[in-house]
Amino acid sequence: MRFAVFAFSALTAFAQAPAEKLAPYVPTPPIVVERMLKLGGLQPGEKMFDLGSGDGRLVIMAAKKFKADAAGVEIDEKLCRESSDQIRKLKLENRARIICGDILTQDYSQAALLTVYLFTGSNEKIRPLLEKQLRKGARVVTHDFEFANWKADKIELVEDDGEGRSHTLFYYLR
Ligand SMILES: C[S@@+](CC[C@H](N)C(=O)[O-])C[C@H]1O[C@@H](n2cnc3c(N)ncnc32)[C@H](O)[C@@H]1O
Repeated sequence: MRFAVFAFSALTAFAQAPAEKLAPYVPTPPIVVERMLKLGGLQPGEKMFDLGSGDGRLVIMAAKKFKADAAGVEIDEKLCRESSDQIRKLKLENRARIICGDILTQDYSQAALLTVYLFTGSNEKIRPLLEKQLRKGARVVTHDFEFANWKADKIELVEDDGEGRSHTLFYYLR
């Protein structure tokens, strides 16, 4: 009986293990946001996810300018709340939403495009999930950090983000 109680507590603790923070919040400059969505070939009505959506800028531009069906996944409660408020304020709720949760526990099987701005080591952690879930023809665009075990189909350099910094974008066709 004592063992059963111990096993149950251990299982419960494991099930409630906090999600891992895969990168700090560093926003992508607007010029680079647009280049990522263009490089990803995002079309009206297509489903896109931004993995770790921060203040929601990729989701908002995808919905507003590209007329996509956009979703962000964000673990930080404050960023999640603020980006959801901004979507409401811009009246984009029919095309944009933020999932307050962990990148590693979502379903991306319907995605046409994923955008990712995480570390290379974090990309390695999410790669098995994406390899399992992504359908053939789905596209993935990463900002500055590549998927070490995937070969990029295109690499684009953004020479100046408006503040004199350069950025590299990696495009993968699954
Ligand atoms: C480098 S920022 C990128 C923000 C936004 N995608 C952009 O490009 O402007 C990474 C974001 O991922 C979020 N994040 C980190 N680990 C996460 C996880 N396990 N699940 C969901 N979001 C996560 C962070 O809170 C942060 O907002």
